[in-house]
Amino acid sequence: MPGGRERVRAKVPATSANLGPGFDALGIALSLYAWIEMAPADETSIALLGNGTEGLPSDKSNLLYGIAQRVFDEAGVRVPELEIAFAGDIPLARGLGSSAAAIVGALGAANALIGEPLPRDELFRIATEIEGHPDNVGPAIYGGIVTAIWDGERASHIRLDVPAGLATLVAIPTYELLTSKARAALPETYSRADAVFNLSRAALLTAAFATGKLDVVRHAMQDRLHQPYRAPLVPGLSRVLSEASARGALGAALSGAGPTAIAFVDEASANGRKSELETFLREAMSVSGDGRDVELRWLAPSAEGLVVEAASDRLQDALSEGGLAR
Ligand code: HSE
Repeated sequence: MPGGRERVRAKVPATSANLGPGFDALGIALSLYAWIEMAPADETSIALLGNGTEGLPSDKSNLLYGIAQRVFDEAGVRVPELEIAFAGDIPLARGLGSSAAAIVGALGAANALIGEPLPRDELFRIATEIEGHPDNVGPAIYGGIVTAIWDGERASHIRLDVPAGLATLVAIPTYELLTSKARAALPETYSRADAVFNLSRAALLTAAFATGKLDVVRHAMQDRLHQPYRAPLVPGLSRVLSEASARGALGAALSGAGPTAIAFVDEASANGRKSELETFLREAMSVSGDGRDVELRWLAPSAEGLVVEAASDRLQDALSEGGLAR
């Protein structure tokens, strides 16, 4: 590959979008990852190694292959046959940005394979166009907290460092919820009062993150644009939203389109209350009632977004030898 590499591996973080009031506008990168590897080949092969990828196409109709070809087309380069491998720890269809990670990883890997002709902001623009909104792909690319807009053609963003001491606990139910279904539950129009309610809180939340004023986060996480309409699809969500701040959290939100719930915690003030919050989230989000259908994870925010490196071995081998840095 002139100027490019023989085999590249992209590592992309999970993301939680919306953060309550910032519907389609705000997101945070979390330390759970997906890997997408690409190398030129004589014949295309696609290895899907992650849980939940059964049934996805492993021929040229695969999304990862299509995205790679889009990068090559845009750069005016031909790489028709590719060896692609995908592995990930991000659960699918749970509101943790698995599709954004796949899109961003495929864009980043394809771009690196041909010598990185496209700047990162162009990868962000293409990723947003494919995903339809910028709030997962933004932090997946840039890491940290990202506030972004998309006008259908151009995407703009600002990346913020995650304030020191901000921790996140996610409660991941076993059932899946498709983003399309969770978006179909939303109304077409909103009242002015609801629009003002959300934009004032989204602005306050962004400013609280930017200045590290975590005590303000608790006042800024309410939402009237999406969570009330999605609550019927996510048992326990209403309770989580209304009670989490009394159980040791700064606030809580539906993660992306759900069904995962995410609670934000100030490490400095949560001492001794973490297990109370864990018990509460597990109980509230459990459909079976015994809590065994909810996976709880403390996920540190990820300062790093998309990282692409040359790979000397195949993803399959790196996985089996425990060689992937998680
Ligand atoms: N902002 C999007 C939504 C994120 O809430 O529908 C889902 O990927």
